[in-house]
Amino acid sequence: MSAVLSIRDLAVRFSTPDGVVPAVNEFSLELAPGECVGIVGESGAGKSQSFLAVMGLLAGNASVSGSARLGETELLGNDREALNAVRGSKLAMIFQDPMTSLTPHLRVVDQIGESLVRHRGLSKAQARQRALELLRLVQVTDAERRLDQYPHELSGGMRQRVMIAIALACDPTVLIADEPTTALDVTIQAQILALLAQLKRERGMSMVLVTHDLGVVAGIADRVVVMYGGRIVEHGAVKDILLAPQHPYTRALLASMPRIDEVGNAPLQAIGGQPPNPRRLPNGCAFHPRCALAADRCANERPALNVAAGRAVACHFPIRVDAHD
Ligand SMILES: Nc1ncnc2c1ncn2[C@@H]1O[C@H](COP(=O)(O)OP(=O)(O)OP(=O)(O)O)[C@@H](O)[C@H]1O
Ligand code: SF4
Ligand SMILES: [Mg+2]
Repeated sequence: MSAVLSIRDLAVRFSTPDGVVPAVNEFSLELAPGECVGIVGESGAGKSQSFLAVMGLLAGNASVSGSARLGETELLGNDREALNAVRGSKLAMIFQDPMTSLTPHLRVVDQIGESLVRHRGLSKAQARQRALELLRLVQVTDAERRLDQYPHELSGGMRQRVMIAIALACDPTVLIADEPTTALDVTIQAQILALLAQLKRERGMSMVLVTHDLGVVAGIADRVVVMYGGRIVEHGAVKDILLAPQHPYTRALLASMPRIDEVGNAPLQAIGGQPPNPRRLPNGCAFHPRCALAADRCANERPALNVAAGRAVACHFPIRVDAHD
């Protein structure tokens, strides 16, 4: 089946007074209809900038190259008007902190209704009715009353539900969720993730879920992309990545993370050292200063992303074990 979103060789660079920051390099991803891909990696790995680039929302000091096609529409380098037509209608994004994305002085009904009036030509009364339906869909309690409230009158979980309602307003083909639950407490996190999983299932929407947490992707993603130092280092089906990670970084990441899908698991092991500074990436494999398996070659030669049998790994010495060992 053809991809709904096709990203090829995406690169994002930032010009700064201290030089160029290569934040994202050679990033490629095909998202199939109805599929959810999880993007994981430590802070600074390039997760958010990859998708802000796709949305046309990079900072002013960024330059971008490569291609990102939503169906037939090329998104990169397209003019603002063409992007606005796609954003909020076919492609929507929700962020970690709903307070910074919601407009403080606009009532919930107007925030949800805005794109319906703009993109779908609904009247104000029709937009209000649709906003009410959407609030119910995202399981906001007391939805009728919430319509006329302002963001500061809502709890964090409620605000995130409103953000999801805004994102769903025009029935997007692709929803990009960037750490949508990080700012919320654990119970609300689980509820929001369950809601996203349900929406994906029922509406056949494709989804990109950016998160620090491999445990979070376990329950909802079909595939996982692992990023390190601005590059994809491993990519594959969720069960392959979780049960048999081939990249030493993925393995370390798994060992360091609490898993919401498991109880009584082994003690967590922090990954030694710090994530790399993209301004000064180590030569060779960027993970080599922290890698238990590093050899001389790793410090000199950057491993290419090798694709085989539906998965990809960028390592000179990938770990190959039977998934059921
Ligand atoms: N405007 C900018 N100018 C210079 N560097 C930037 C700019 N915006 C982002 N960066 C750098 O780009 C790199 C990638 O950032 P990105 O936001 O994609 O990280 P991330 O993987 O989403 O991390 P986190 O998990 O903390 O959100 C970081 O090193 C960041 O400092
Ligand atoms: S290429 Fe070398 S340093 Fe990099 S992850 Fe593989 S073994 Fe470790
Ligand atoms: Mg981020």
